[in-house]
Amino acid sequence: MVEELVSSIPSPSNRRRLVNDSYDQPKPISSIETIDQERLKSGIEEFDRVLGGGAVPGSVILIGGDPGIGKSTLLLQVLDRLTQNYGKTLYVSGEESARQIKLRASRLGIESSDLHVLCETDIEAIEVHIDKLSPKIVVVDSIQTMQRSDIDSIPGNITQVRESSMALTSIAKSRNIPIFIVGHITKEGSIAGPKVMEHIVDTVLYMEGDSYHVYRILRAVKNRFGSTNEIGVFEMRDSGLVEITNPSEMLLSERKENISGSVVVSIMEGTRPILLELQALVSPAYFGVPQRTANGIDRNRLALLLAVLDKRAGFRIQNSDVFVNVVGGMQAEEPGIDLGVMVALISNHKDKPVDPKTVVIGEVGLGGEVRAVSQAEKRIKESARLGFKRAIISHYNVRGLNIKEDIEVVGVQMVKDALNILL
Ligand code: TYD
Ligand code: MG
Repeated sequence: MVEELVSSIPSPSNRRRLVNDSYDQPKPISSIETIDQERLKSGIEEFDRVLGGGAVPGSVILIGGDPGIGKSTLLLQVLDRLTQNYGKTLYVSGEESARQIKLRASRLGIESSDLHVLCETDIEAIEVHIDKLSPKIVVVDSIQTMQRSDIDSIPGNITQVRESSMALTSIAKSRNIPIFIVGHITKEGSIAGPKVMEHIVDTVLYMEGDSYHVYRILRAVKNRFGSTNEIGVFEMRDSGLVEITNPSEMLLSERKENISGSVVVSIMEGTRPILLELQALVSPAYFGVPQRTANGIDRNRLALLLAVLDKRAGFRIQNSDVFVNVVGGMQAEEPGIDLGVMVALISNHKDKPVDPKTVVIGEVGLGGEVRAVSQAEKRIKESARLGFKRAIISHYNVRGLNIKEDIEVVGVQMVKDALNILL
């Protein structure tokens, strides 16, 4: 149970008068003027692209993520770049002391007299300081520490999180400055976490990755000013986050060729094709129920693909332990990796490596047929650029391809065909 606070509501007749006098009135859509908003760019391409080309003035951008993932680090770096480009900015922290922030800044090599730091949790006080300083951009770290003193509940409580977000939104809109808000994903999940703010803010970005990998993915899940398909890739180093403009190269850099069970697949992340290495291990199950472990791909999808292999291609590996791993800690949730997963499984099952210069692309249906993927041309061109010599793909995709690069495109109809060609 979560306590909700209700404030007094004006009587219906008073409200009616209010609506007539001071509310926005309906107007024809054709009469509304648009202004092309100048976007504020940090120059960190991976970041700007996820925002849809920079931050729109007056917009509120939520950066959500697990504690310790690197939200404060990213925003401090972004704010530094924005300061260099646009002048005075403000970093409000309710989590760390000014000295702690300074320590991080030194580590990141940030030394700007226009980047101001304020340690404050009271929204009204923050508003006063924004008006005094008139910064071009504001960061609020984090929403869970912010509070409106007129609301009688503790910071981090659902009411405070929501009311503080709304107050910050109205500050951003009325001053026409972008405000970035950090929101921790709390243990309780949706309650009082970024989820309660998603509908209030204009843009929601999530920072993903795990503590075992240095890669961090910034993903747009809502964007009133751009597409939500884009991701930005970063690497966490000693001196902060470094953007990775070419994730495929990085993800394939540690690949060992001629190992059975390893296959390179291609996924689309927004407008960008990314090549990934999939690894599979099939081993006899020594105890009762066989194990299924899927890192980076959907477990149910794996079960389905195993059943198709069994029924449609005649491979009895349902009773083996099966492990599938996407290298680099990436998530590959799109069906375009189906064929690659199956090839990796059978490659390991037969202990036969797949040609290392071949990329495998295709969705697989329950009939064992290989289905077309979106944007095949982009995926194949990226593969060619990275030195792949052959692409196995659905024959439906082959028609209409315009590939001038040095790569052979092989269309297949059934999973069995692909397995025959490769193994
Ligand atoms: P932080 O930005 O504080 O995370 P969040 O704000 O999301 O809670 O980042 C925390 C981790 O990042 C911390 O464990 C140390 C690491 N880190 C680096 O590896 N290199 C760096 O330059 C910095 C500043 C942090
Ligand atoms: Mg932080």
